[in-house]
Amino acid sequence: MISPALERFISQAVIRSREQAEPADCVLALAPLMLDLIDQAGTFLEPQHFRSDPGGYARNLVYDAADESLSLYSIVWLPGQWTPIHDHGSWGVVGVIEGVLEERSYVRLSPDRGADSGIDLARGGTVLLRRGAVTSFVPNPDHIHITGVPSERPRAVSLHLYGRMMSDFNVYDVGARTRRRISVAHNES
Ligand SMILES: [Fe+2]
Repeated sequence: MISPALERFISQAVIRSREQAEPADCVLALAPLMLDLIDQAGTFLEPQHFRSDPGGYARNLVYDAADESLSLYSIVWLPGQWTPIHDHGSWGVVGVIEGVLEERSYVRLSPDRGADSGIDLARGGTVLLRRGAVTSFVPNPDHIHITGVPSERPRAVSLHLYGRMMSDFNVYDVGARTRRRISVAHNES
């Protein structure tokens, strides 16, 4: 049973994402929906969406479209849990519903944006996102970042909407100057 607030969000997200061919226009159209969805999170998130894993941040599926064109996850970040350095290869919109989510960016200095080797990354800035904050990203140029919670801060929970099933993404090895595609797991609802 899907709550009215989530149903409205999904139906609007489907309409707006179909209307926008450009990923940058898509996230512009969807970010306000995420801003509203955060306030409604209590009406549709269930205990299974708050599952955590001491071994690493936990990705809990909230909704996936039958045609796999959209997916929504709740991600639970325990203190000290971080992603690897990654990009998603697609657009995404993120909203924070609990705690402070930290995102540290990287900038690709090497000119060939599509190359999987010979990659030079420089560390960029950081953003701290409290409950109610929304952030987004688009592919090409890829948004390269790590996301997580430092060990001195409490748990964070965030909602992540993507323009596909987010079952794989690109991870970077700074020392080897490489990028490779890896599969990422999630918990079904
Ligand atoms: Fe990410």
